[in-house]
Amino acid sequence: MSLPRIAVLASGRGSNLAALLAARERGELPVEFVLVASDKANAGALRLAEAADIPTLALDPRSYPDRRAFDLDLFDRIAASGADLLVLAGFMRVLDGEALMPWVGRMINIHPSLLPKYRGLHTHRRALEAGDAEHGASVHFVTAELDGGPVIAQARIAVEPGDDEQRLAARLLPLEHRLLPAVLGLLASGRLRWDGHGPLLDGQPLPVPLAFGSDGSFAPG
Ligand code: GRF
Repeated sequence: MSLPRIAVLASGRGSNLAALLAARERGELPVEFVLVASDKANAGALRLAEAADIPTLALDPRSYPDRRAFDLDLFDRIAASGADLLVLAGFMRVLDGEALMPWVGRMINIHPSLLPKYRGLHTHRRALEAGDAEHGASVHFVTAELDGGPVIAQARIAVEPGDDEQRLAARLLPLEHRLLPAVLGLLASGRLRWDGHGPLLDGQPLPVPLAFGSDGSFAPG
């Protein structure tokens, strides 16, 4: 049987992509990566993909008339890669709602906050400014609403007295690196599905996000 085919979109250094590749190398994520695409030709994620012999694609948004034209071309090329599933791993663009429609239920994103808190940018700073006792990361299905699709699972950390924006981000990142491969594993195995409205795990709706534990397991939220 062929492995689920995965495309990844990333704009930056690609540490979450690296975590996905490492999980596959360890035999914990039985998938095939068919494409890593970026809106930034100099993204570290593209270099990581090249080193792993994964096809890459860099598209420059400035060479398209508008966002929709860029997104339609991007999604066409992703479809042409044969990808079954799409992972946004630090893809720093808002996607056109109509262009992404064919991928709803097959596309997940990692976001560094406990959604629905702090959609968009500067999540660590905003959590600190709000005086939150807890912070975290969420993996959610992508819908037309920015960082607003149904949340599948979350990892939490306590905010510590010495945390500033950088320290908090650095403490959260290793958890992101475990959360994203684990959720992709659920989706790729077919245990996690989209029922047209939200996530189903083993056929049961998830009324609240799964809690991702420090031991790498999921528990009901
Ligand atoms: C991560 O914090 C991710 O949650 C956010 O962007 C960052 C990407 O980091 N969406 P990297 O490029 O995967 O290292």
